[in-house]
Amino acid sequence: MIRPSAKVLAFTSGSKGGVGKSTIAANVAAIIDAPVALVDLGFDGNSTASKLHGIDDNDDGILNYLATGAKLKIYESKEHKNVSIIPPGDLDYRYFLLFSTNRYAVAARFERLIIDLSRNGVKLVLVDFPANMDKSIHHALIAFSDIVNLIMEPSESSIDSLTKLYKEVMGFYDGYGVINTIVNMVAVDNDPLADYSRKYVNNGETMRIPFDHYARYYTNNGVLAIHYKTGGFTPAITGVAKQISKQAEQLMGVRL
Ligand SMILES: Nc1ncnc2c1ncn2[C@@H]1O[C@H](COP(=O)(O)OP(=O)(O)O)[C@@H](O)[C@H]1O
Ligand SMILES: [Mg+2]
Repeated sequence: MIRPSAKVLAFTSGSKGGVGKSTIAANVAAIIDAPVALVDLGFDGNSTASKLHGIDDNDDGILNYLATGAKLKIYESKEHKNVSIIPPGDLDYRYFLLFSTNRYAVAARFERLIIDLSRNGVKLVLVDFPANMDKSIHHALIAFSDIVNLIMEPSESSIDSLTKLYKEVMGFYDGYGVINTIVNMVAVDNDPLADYSRKYVNNGETMRIPFDHYARYYTNNGVLAIHYKTGGFTPAITGVAKQISKQAEQLMGVRL
């Protein structure tokens, strides 16, 4: 078996929703020049990541594929030709769980997808995780991720969720792998969370993205904020994309 060459980048926040996972994953995918795939597991938030790339499809998607091995439709982003979009699909999450009691089968399908995407020239696979995904499946897919981006915002529930998740991820990473923290929606430059979040980094970085009313407005209207003038979001997300690409290049030993 040829080993997959694409690196997998997870965007996750554990059980806390609304921290900006989809916004960040979709905009980062758009900034990177190399061929990337955006896997939208966001059945919790109306496929935000896919919609930001102009894809709004409710047929066979990643959930159908992971649960049953159904054929997968892969779309080209309407915004950036180098981005392939894999939308969530139409499978109800309760049914997904019903089919997915065997998480090893889910993990095997996920690995096959990464191999297939790699064969089609994809270099990075960005996975937008939903909040409250079944824990054992979440862990199984995180275990395939080369770079895990833990995303949080400055609320207590978000911090609790991050702390728990970091311990879980470290539990099966054994110190290997790259874990970054991204503190989103910070209001001030010296936000104490930025320091705090450093505790939850492994071979990685802690990054900050400011709260930006424009970014919220654009995202909620289904467009990528980086295409517009924003109050701080665009430079910050460009920095995040650069950092993550650099880490992936180091892992792959080649330039993207
Ligand atoms: N940096 C930011 N500043 C302001 N609003 C943001 C920012 N990042 C995300 N948002 C907004 O927060 C909400 C949740 O974002 P979303 O990406 O859907 O989160 P998640 O995928 O974690 O549930 C959306 O309304 C989005 O526009
Ligand atoms: Mg989301």
